[in-house]
Amino acid sequence: MVETIITKDISFACEILKKGEVVAVPTETVYGLAANGLNLAAVKKIFEAKARPFNNPLILHFANQEQIDPFILDFPPILKQLTAVFWPGPLTVLLPKSNLVDDLITGGKAQVAIRIPSHPDFHALLQQVGFPLAAPSANLYGMVSPTNAEHVYNQLKGKIPLILDGGPCEKGIESTIIGMENEQVIVYRLGSISIEELALHLGEVPQIKNEATENGIASGMVKYHYAPRTPLYFYDASSTNMDQNNGYIFFKEYPNNTKIENAIVLSETSDLQEAARKLYSALHEFDERGFHHIYIERFPEQGLGATLNDRLNRATEKFKA
Ligand code: TXA
Ligand code: MG
Repeated sequence: MVETIITKDISFACEILKKGEVVAVPTETVYGLAANGLNLAAVKKIFEAKARPFNNPLILHFANQEQIDPFILDFPPILKQLTAVFWPGPLTVLLPKSNLVDDLITGGKAQVAIRIPSHPDFHALLQQVGFPLAAPSANLYGMVSPTNAEHVYNQLKGKIPLILDGGPCEKGIESTIIGMENEQVIVYRLGSISIEELALHLGEVPQIKNEATENGIASGMVKYHYAPRTPLYFYDASSTNMDQNNGYIFFKEYPNNTKIENAIVLSETSDLQEAARKLYSALHEFDERGFHHIYIERFPEQGLGATLNDRLNRATEKFKA
């Protein structure tokens, strides 16, 4: 057990990272659990703290484009065109790795996942440390990603020395992961940047390949994932009985427009960005409140709604009989 400190001091976080320790960091998507991506002993601590299988690869985060170049062999122009639009920000690209990237980072794969984040504290930290930071989401393996420092503390206290508190995450949902196959852009994980936004800049709708595979991670996706501790089910207006012992999460309104204490409405203005920002927080809160079950309404399957439904499909899968 270590004492877990929460700080706003970026230089202190920098110092701890330089010592080869892990630090939880704020990003615009979700909190990450970071370590020096060039120090294997430090990277191993990430897997240990999260209880994450070693074959599940990590994203490398950089401060700028020049820093990336030595770590990749090629950057296809179409992908570069997209990163020019979305970086710094919630887009992760899979690129052929150079031999400076260890197999521990990529799970033995030939491609490395790369992102330049926009959160000002994380960006400043990346500039200060000078090395890439490997960072998965800062939750225990398979659980809901944290979107504030307290969520991280609740899951990882005693397991990590430091949490850099950069406030609540602006996006609230993980980055979109893309790559190339046969000259085509492929989306491997739906995320904070919607398919529609990508299509706008690509001139066509990209193919999505985010199915869980046999060992669960070939394309970076696991079937049972993003789940709260409390059993989670989809809410169905015609068959779900409301009960005081359960928690309910709705997109834009309460049933019959009647406010109840054990329910949360994510966005009264039907804003999917607001819903995305609040979704994980609602799941964390309901986990803390000790409900027997959580029921959640499906989102409209467009824009960020498709991303949110993707997470809920994976999370509810875990509780199917
Ligand atoms: O928004 C985000 O992406 C956050 C913040 C911290 O940057 N990070 C994040 O990391 O969500 P993580 O590890 O929880 O999810 C990254 C996903 C994993 O499913 C992993 O398997 C996949 O990306 N991935 C990472 N490197 C990969 C690679 N080389 N090839 C295929 N999939 C990869
Ligand atoms: Mg994760």
